[in-house]
Amino acid sequence: MSGKPIRILAIESSCDETAAAVVEDGRKVISNIISSQIDIHTLYGGVVPEIASRKHTERICQVVEEALKAADMTIADVDAVAVTYGPGLVGALLVGVSYAKGLAFAAQKPLIGVHHIEGHISANYIDHPELEPPFPCLVVSGGHTHLVRVKDYGEYEVLGRTRDDAAGEAFDKVARAIGLGYPGGPKIDAVSDEGNPEAIAFPRAKVADSVYDFSFSGLKSAVLNYLNSCNMSGTEVNRADVAASFQKAVVDVLVEHAMTALEEGGEKTFALAGGVASNRHLRKAFEEACAKRGIAFYRPAPIFCTDNAAMIGAAAYYEYIKGVRHGLDLNAVPNLKLGERI
Ligand code: KG4
Ligand code: ZN
Repeated sequence: MSGKPIRILAIESSCDETAAAVVEDGRKVISNIISSQIDIHTLYGGVVPEIASRKHTERICQVVEEALKAADMTIADVDAVAVTYGPGLVGALLVGVSYAKGLAFAAQKPLIGVHHIEGHISANYIDHPELEPPFPCLVVSGGHTHLVRVKDYGEYEVLGRTRDDAAGEAFDKVARAIGLGYPGGPKIDAVSDEGNPEAIAFPRAKVADSVYDFSFSGLKSAVLNYLNSCNMSGTEVNRADVAASFQKAVVDVLVEHAMTALEEGGEKTFALAGGVASNRHLRKAFEEACAKRGIAFYRPAPIFCTDNAAMIGAAAYYEYIKGVRHGLDLNAVPNLKLGERI
């Protein structure tokens, strides 16, 4: 882009991170502030929606102020205010949406509502100036597992999705079952370094009528059954082997489906996104699979994989230059579909 850079102040509060960022021209992160609530939710073994909303309310003013301060700007210096308006926890989303509306109105700035998954996908644009659509992207997070064809900026075709648990949810549930605590993904990632991924033959679930859909609840049950039978027979459970074998079963299915999409679409570029995309074993498996096929592989830096506002600012930029603006009647939409505009 030539001319004056477009700076967007972005806000994210869809789950358990209160976040704000300033992003320039969709790709350059000027500031990125994330206030995580993980410590509080850990006490309950998962995210408690009511607590999440309260904590967002307590922290949002400070987080936004910090993002502007770290960018050495005031609200007058930004071109638009962007906010995640769905999908997510309704009470949590409402805090960000209400705050963004108030700020945009008071500062007389345009308001742009962003889809959370579009944000995760757009995290790949950060620091990768050469990446442009079209490309398939696998979004794997705590709430979503979507295999998406990114046809253009803001244009998506969902090829497949999970029929039951999201990949991150499966990591969290299995981690809890083997006593690793919440959030389970990073803990399984770490502990599996000491385990044998071939030790236990967990199933690679197929969905009968779709090559692209996923199902992880059967795998989760298989892990629980395995733990139960060890318990009944008095066999000691090797947690690292369980973690590594479970993780391998998830990774195999994710890679297989993504490679099928690449073969079908013929693209030479692939991207990974979402909290689970920070998993080191998953990144390595995709690196190898893509290298073997001569495919350029993109994944965000780990800090932009888990929930953050910089990814919302990246997505909002492409909406901004298309002329997308939301009114002050923008509302939180907890089950917003990808590609749907409200
Ligand atoms: O994208 P995210 O921050 O929030 C949602 O939009 O859901 O993803 C959070 C999820 C959690 O389930 C967490 O366990 C998982 O991402 N996660 C990981 C890793 N880091 C975070 N899963 C596997 N390995 C990791 N290293
Ligand atoms: Zn997310």
